[in-house]
Amino acid sequence: MSTTTTTTTSATATTTPPDLDVRRVGGRIGAEIRGLDLSAPLTPDTVAAVNAALLEHKALFFRGQRLDDAGQLRFAAYFGELTTAHPTVPSVDGQPNILPVDGDEGIRSNQWHTDVTFVRTPPKASTLRALVVPPYGGNTLIANSAAAYRDLPEPLRELADRLTAVHTNDYDYAAPRNEKAAAHRRQFVSRKYRTAHPVVRVHPESGERGLFVGGFAQSLVGLSSGESRDLLRILQAYVTRPENIVRWTWEQGDLVLFDNRITQHYAPDDFGDLPRLLHRVTVAGDVPVGVDGERSRVVEGDDAGHYTPAADRAA
Ligand SMILES: [Fe+2]
Repeated sequence: MSTTTTTTTSATATTTPPDLDVRRVGGRIGAEIRGLDLSAPLTPDTVAAVNAALLEHKALFFRGQRLDDAGQLRFAAYFGELTTAHPTVPSVDGQPNILPVDGDEGIRSNQWHTDVTFVRTPPKASTLRALVVPPYGGNTLIANSAAAYRDLPEPLRELADRLTAVHTNDYDYAAPRNEKAAAHRRQFVSRKYRTAHPVVRVHPESGERGLFVGGFAQSLVGLSSGESRDLLRILQAYVTRPENIVRWTWEQGDLVLFDNRITQHYAPDDFGDLPRLLHRVTVAGDVPVGVDGERSRVVEGDDAGHYTPAADRAA
């Protein structure tokens, strides 16, 4: 057993099972799990406790784990079937389920987004592992989209409940900063996807409602492009309120697990040419469902069956 016992009398105690040392990081999102060695096999009870903590805190931080690729894959697989690395971007050599997040390759995720929402079954959870960390900058920000939904004034919440957004990987991106970034962009949009998702998603495990928008959401069904832009900007502003965000300063070896069904994230492009390399492994997700039972549907492109096993079951 690799968990530690902690007192539950500390100010940071939570409702998570007591054998897991859970310390809140942000006021509304994020917790660090201490005393758990992810390089050793986890018991089903521990996995259940981590999953419960994930549902409550939405982003979990594990400092100084120093896992290898196999260890990261094994940890992610405790939470379900894995996706391949990405629908369009190549994996790490010889590791079909691992996406390199390499600043050196022009990859800068300095836009709020939820991973891969342009397909019908976006991943349920993402794991990120830090291999190379810059001496400053290069943090990851993660936002609680359920808190954002709760923050909406009631008339806006009622409006959001009825909206459907079209998410795509192929939109009018800003000009790439160099040739490597341009090549990455071309690869990213080499297959075009457009998917209609409910703007308010009901979490399949917790039942919580969250705003399901982010950078790939480019229009609202039935509205003009101008109206879509304005409304998405208003909704998005609630997600990115500082109160709803946790900011993680990476150290080499850290592993972060976040619930992709109810968060957005952002990686500030503030580390210049310093090296930064993360490996990402994601857990396959299901078809999002809105408050009235509306299910997501493909608008353009395939069902991404080469990317996520859940696509097969979504038909
Ligand atoms: Fe991402």
